[in-house]
Amino acid sequence: MKILTILGARPQFIKAAPVSRVLRKHMEEKIIHTGQHYDANMSDIFFEELHIPKPDYHLGVGSGNHGKQTGEMLAKIEEIVLNEQPDYLMVYGDTNSTLAGALVAAKLHVPVIHIEAGLRSFNKKMPEEINRIMTDHVSEYLFCPTDTAIENLTNENITHNVFNIGDVMYDAVLYNRELAKEKSNILAEAGLTAKDYHLITIHRAENTDDIENMKNILDAFSKIDEVKVWPIHPRTKHKLADYGLNLGDVPNLKVIDPVGYLDMLTLEANAKKIVTDSGGVQKEAYFMKVPCVTIREQTEWVETLSGEANILTGTDTEKILAAVQKEVNPEYKEVFGDGQASEKIVDIISKK
Ligand code: UD1
Ligand code: UDP
Repeated sequence: MKILTILGARPQFIKAAPVSRVLRKHMEEKIIHTGQHYDANMSDIFFEELHIPKPDYHLGVGSGNHGKQTGEMLAKIEEIVLNEQPDYLMVYGDTNSTLAGALVAAKLHVPVIHIEAGLRSFNKKMPEEINRIMTDHVSEYLFCPTDTAIENLTNENITHNVFNIGDVMYDAVLYNRELAKEKSNILAEAGLTAKDYHLITIHRAENTDDIENMKNILDAFSKIDEVKVWPIHPRTKHKLADYGLNLGDVPNLKVIDPVGYLDMLTLEANAKKIVTDSGGVQKEAYFMKVPCVTIREQTEWVETLSGEANILTGTDTEKILAAVQKEVNPEYKEVFGDGQASEKIVDIISKK
């Protein structure tokens, strides 16, 4: 059996690492890297650290408006699918790379396997929401991380070949948590003391593409006395420069380049709080039992909201401040599976 996997953006490399490791014990896999993310610290570092097999194809699509970026991927992926004739095409998550892969395969009648299917924010202004709805509706196998994701698909009449196998990001965390303790020196390198700083990540278009939202967010960060560390996403860095907003004005803030996965796990595990708009980081905060504040109006990961393990604030300065300062004592539950999602996926596909 031959699987063609589409990867393109940082979280997809991390999700693919555990799945690929198991998949290759049982079947042939070829990887297409679309080139959506291309800086070494947004791409290569994950292939090296997580021992993800080198892509068989690199499309070099790079950044661009949605139409240009997705369109270029469509044309290039189509050519490869026609040549490779895979049994299945596998996509992860909700990026433009996900949508491009799914659309090409569906039109060529190659069954699509969607990993992290069924997530919904119910906000169609998010490009990710469009990508995941479209992808789910053309997929043949839908691997969901939570019961909520299954329910979301049921509500859209998608019930065939839908499986809750848990979250592949939990597999990745369990596999790498101890390695991170051994190998990462990021606390010393960044001059941080465990449990004495907040970790920040911001990159969602709904936040970064609006100067007022970014001003409100920075205003909140300025009013938080604690040390803050922010591995900054290139999108955010570019947008802040365009807006003329200077992070040097925020007291006690350490801005660093994007870090590798082992350093990120270390920063997360040792943070007092995590302040983010990332999907993956919200979940990792939950896995690590570190309280999270999410600068968004909705989350797809509603399980994390229980007991205020994660608090949604939107971009209101005062709401962000209040949430960061709030003492919470949540009860963390096993709602993201048992860390064996990759094995379950491969098991199900092998039996088809
Ligand atoms: C993309 C995904 C988003 C995901 C995120 C993970 C879409 C629509 N968005 O958002 O769902 O959460 O990846 O990080 O697919 N850039 C660089 N170097 C890079 C990559 C990006 O400088 O290696 C800069 C460019 O200015 C680019 C901008 O970041 O224009 C945005 O990149 P893009 O891949 O379009 O979207 P992300 O915001 O990264
Ligand atoms: N991540 C990382 N280095 C960083 C920031 C994030 O390794 O500097 C990891 C993080 O641990 C998580 C994933 O990237 O596994 C999340 O990706 P991102 O926030 O870019 O996208 P999203 O999950 O929102 O789609």
